[in-house]
Amino acid sequence: MMLPITAYGHPTLRKKGSEIEKNNQELQQLISDMFETMYESHGVGLAAQQINKTLLLFVIDASPFAEEFPETKDFKKVFINAEIIRQEGKEWEFEEGCLSIPGINEFVNRKSIIYINYYDEDWVFHEEEKFEGILARIIQHEYDHTQGILFTDRIPAFKKVLIKRKLNDISSGKTKPAYKMIYPRKKVKK
Ligand code: NI
Repeated sequence: MMLPITAYGHPTLRKKGSEIEKNNQELQQLISDMFETMYESHGVGLAAQQINKTLLLFVIDASPFAEEFPETKDFKKVFINAEIIRQEGKEWEFEEGCLSIPGINEFVNRKSIIYINYYDEDWVFHEEEKFEGILARIIQHEYDHTQGILFTDRIPAFKKVLIKRKLNDISSGKTKPAYKMIYPRKKVKK
């Protein structure tokens, strides 16, 4: 089932996810709905906060980047109760976007290597798994969502000023992407 996506300004996007229990009966359906929602809206990742759930859960299919980054070719993964243990390497800049912030793309600096603990969809624990480059970046972006952080929090203040009106248009429902969104009730002040 395709789910609506929370728009910038929605309070759920600012909430940290809680841990998921292994016996959660709705988890597999939720994962499948999240992939469907992500594919239909042409994203490469989607976090629970974006479908209005405060859980430590995100899904990724990085394959749309395969032409530029061959390592993304078969990279389809589920991250449950993920925790980034450490980040290292050089910071590098890349233009990011987000399904919750349609029409805005900005360069974001992130470290190039991460080590992460997580469970996959079969509840196999992955300990301090290492990811680099574009894969690390996509994981960092989605992981941020589970911590209530958006990529616009990671851009310079002057750039945020420049996109303030666009952000207000998104939260007030004036921006209309091709997919369904859930808007915050009140206009948010930045
Ligand atoms: Ni995002």
